Amino acid sequence: MYFIGIDLGTSAVKLLLVDGGGVIHNEVTKEYPLEFPQPGWSQQNPQDWKNAVLEGIPELLSGFDGSNVAGIGCGGQMHGLVALDEHDNVIRPAILWNDGRTARQVEYLNNTFGKEKLSALTANIAFAGFTAPKILWMRENEPENFARIAKIMLPKDYVNYILTGVHCCDYSDASGMLLLDVKNKRWSKEMLEICGVSESQMPKLFESYEVVGTVKPEIAKLLGISAGAKVVAGAGDNAAAAVGTGVVGNGGCNISLGTSGTVFISSKSFGVDPNNALHAFAHADGGWHLMGCMLSAASCNKWLCEDIFHTADYAAEQKDITRDKLGNNHVYFLPYLMGERSPINDTNARGTFLGLTMDTTRPDLVQAVLEGVAFAIRDSFEVAKSLGLSIPSSKICGGGSKSPLWRTIFANVLGIPLELVKTEQGPGYGGALLAMVGCGLFESVQAAADALVEVASTVQPDPELTARYEKRYQQFRKIYPACKELFAQFAKEEER
Ligand code: XUL
Repeated sequence: MYFIGIDLGTSAVKLLLVDGGGVIHNEVTKEYPLEFPQPGWSQQNPQDWKNAVLEGIPELLSGFDGSNVAGIGCGGQMHGLVALDEHDNVIRPAILWNDGRTARQVEYLNNTFGKEKLSALTANIAFAGFTAPKILWMRENEPENFARIAKIMLPKDYVNYILTGVHCCDYSDASGMLLLDVKNKRWSKEMLEICGVSESQMPKLFESYEVVGTVKPEIAKLLGISAGAKVVAGAGDNAAAAVGTGVVGNGGCNISLGTSGTVFISSKSFGVDPNNALHAFAHADGGWHLMGCMLSAASCNKWLCEDIFHTADYAAEQKDITRDKLGNNHVYFLPYLMGERSPINDTNARGTFLGLTMDTTRPDLVQAVLEGVAFAIRDSFEVAKSLGLSIPSSKICGGGSKSPLWRTIFANVLGIPLELVKTEQGPGYGGALLAMVGCGLFESVQAAADALVEVASTVQPDPELTARYEKRYQQFRKIYPACKELFAQFAKEEER
């Protein structure tokens, strides 16, 4: 029996073919474009996701018996606003999680409607990437598009809709819309009202491991699988990644180093960060989690290497960063290439190099970028620690975690051991595990993770490096507060 795990990412969809014993038999990646129509805006065409999945699955199954596919589970980029008209046609490009166009709507929600009310209704406050501010933006800026909305959903829900014809969403992903009463796992009537949408425009809610439907016959034929194959609701990519790295139940931590960078702390019980710096969301295992999310993580390194240095050989760029250099870099980098979410919540923040001298080298810049991302993750870590959460170790996953150097930097900036699991394809693997639970192979997500997720290697922090990085982090912390006003001024001047 096979299961297909889908990771609907920002740059590509990654598809995994996994058997019931957790062994990955094949994987296929299909890239799609990302549009930045204005600085800080980010959008994508849902049709590209659909094409990538419908073309990718037959490739994934080439050489395998597709009739043995029992279930499909998707982990998807969160928060993206997908709006469908009454014929289920996509109305406009999806506005993505790292889009910063909604500063005014965020300001309204947080400061006029009020953070306290938002937090009481949804366990969260507004961030530019969340879905509710985007709905308000559409209402104000594209009233004719807004009037056509028959259904609102999130990116992976659109894929599930294409597969099954069902309008569905799971609690983990719905948590990031700022429309869900996260504690009670139901749509917040007040929030829907504020955004001018009704419950009939919202998808039906499910637990991530619940079956939402079966693959439609015409789609099954196209994909080469049986029409009885089950599709589970799936999860937001961070919750799916946490399932894939075994971070379920109480107290585990997962760091994901993808386009975004996240710190994900799993819990069996519901809890809110009193300052709302960390998101309080439902988890894909039926429980909850707290999460800090930075908007540009591995993408900072990709930007520097590919767009600035014109190379995709990341390892070559890192080879001169030897151990003696760690914690001794005089160059700092603020990784705010798309503004920043956690914990500073500032759409005006920008990427910044600081401390350059005539002897600064290309590897120094690369190192500053790798370190800047680790320091920014530490900012969310510090928030978690300030809430009394103990994080003695963490899993790490995502494209950036493949670099041994970056893992070492992270372990020493955070001062904890970091574990890599055997199958590092977090969200896709998590999606496959959720499908296994939906198909009855395991009685719970915890049971699936216990049976199938294995640690492959651990990076231990080194006391000397940790001490050096502590000093550097304390310097790094001073940079954003010193630039904050300037970022705001620059943004204002650009608006004129
Ligand atoms: C989480 C978030 C990102 C995206 C990336 O809140 O916005 O991690 O889910 O795909």
